[in-house]
Amino acid sequence: MNHSTTGASHGPALPEEAGDGTRAVRAGLPEPVKHEPTLPGPVFAAHFHLPGDPTGPYTYGRDENPTWTLLERAIGELEAPGQDSVETLVFASGMAAISSVLFSQLRAGDAVVLPNDGYQALPLVRAQLEAYGIEVRTAPTGGDAQLEVLDGAKLLWIETPSNPGLDVCDVRRLAEAAHARGALVAVDNTLATPLGQRPLELGADFAVASGTKQLTGHGDVLLGYVSGRDAEAMAAVRRWRKIVGAIPGPMEAWLAHRSIATLQLRVDRQSATALALAQALRERSEVTGLRYPGLPDDPSHKIASQQMRRYGCVVSFTLPTRARADRFLDALRLVDDATSFGGVRSTAERRGRWGGDAVPEGFIRFSVGAEDPEDLVADVLRALAESAV
Ligand SMILES: Cc1ncc(COP(=O)(O)O)c(C=O)c1O
Repeated sequence: MNHSTTGASHGPALPEEAGDGTRAVRAGLPEPVKHEPTLPGPVFAAHFHLPGDPTGPYTYGRDENPTWTLLERAIGELEAPGQDSVETLVFASGMAAISSVLFSQLRAGDAVVLPNDGYQALPLVRAQLEAYGIEVRTAPTGGDAQLEVLDGAKLLWIETPSNPGLDVCDVRRLAEAAHARGALVAVDNTLATPLGQRPLELGADFAVASGTKQLTGHGDVLLGYVSGRDAEAMAAVRRWRKIVGAIPGPMEAWLAHRSIATLQLRVDRQSATALALAQALRERSEVTGLRYPGLPDDPSHKIASQQMRRYGCVVSFTLPTRARADRFLDALRLVDDATSFGGVRSTAERRGRWGGDAVPEGFIRFSVGAEDPEDLVADVLRALAESAV
């Protein structure tokens, strides 16, 4: 196996001042080797040649894979630029990544603080944690309310901006308070992406995310990752991945790495259009509860502007009734009625249809894609007008 395929050697170091676009296109690339591709293709292998002592890096495909190695480096370079001690591990999905942190760090008798307005699978995780004898406390994301229930907790789980309500909490403040009480801090960075916010720099111990969303951005890959600064904690996360086997396929890992090259282009375009859409929506009398952290008068904006560099592609708002929301979604031509977010094709859904979020019946979670902003805004305004009758 030659070294460019194993990813054993890093590509040339980038200048410290390199911008996000430069970092994204070069992230995780190996040292150039004559006649080898820039980004080596996926390595499909359940096992690797292994005569003699079974030492790594590549032994068995559930433990390690060269395509993961390159992707893990790429994500690490974006989540924690210049911090070589930060380790990143990729997973089969965001939920696999989330579970790996919670279930590897917590033991029966421990207490954990979760948000009560986070991703709708968190209540399922809560039930499982409680079944294992772990005390679960919850509080809202907004107003840093998780501070109130921190005493004695082993781990604080933050999701900011929260999905789907788009509340934001002060990661630095919460991390300091948690550390003062001896608790670890994990931040779900799915909505922001590492180009929107870097939780490890804000003081978190783990940045965790679903790569299914904007990180990969094409709606064709499920993926998750954990980046962490503490070697011992990350060894436990790695062990969890091995015993649960929640690993990404090499093809998914490669597609993800390929997609990261355009992350800055996509995030910049989608954030700018999301702001334009939010500005258009705030003029509409049938729209209430409009939320976008990038809007200067949004309740999240002040803290978001202190810790985020881009505000994401999701806009939330409420239409007067469930029927109106359904008519609006039906009338959209450039926007797919689908769940998930972060893709290059805009999607929207009536979030209440799942039953898991505390949202009004007419609540819409809108994920802004890479369409021309004027086309998208025009489509939304037309659908709002048509759905009025
Ligand atoms: C904030 C957040 N975290 C985690 C997840 C779970 O990710 P996955 O679907 O890749 O398991 C999601 C999925 O929507 C999410 O929105």
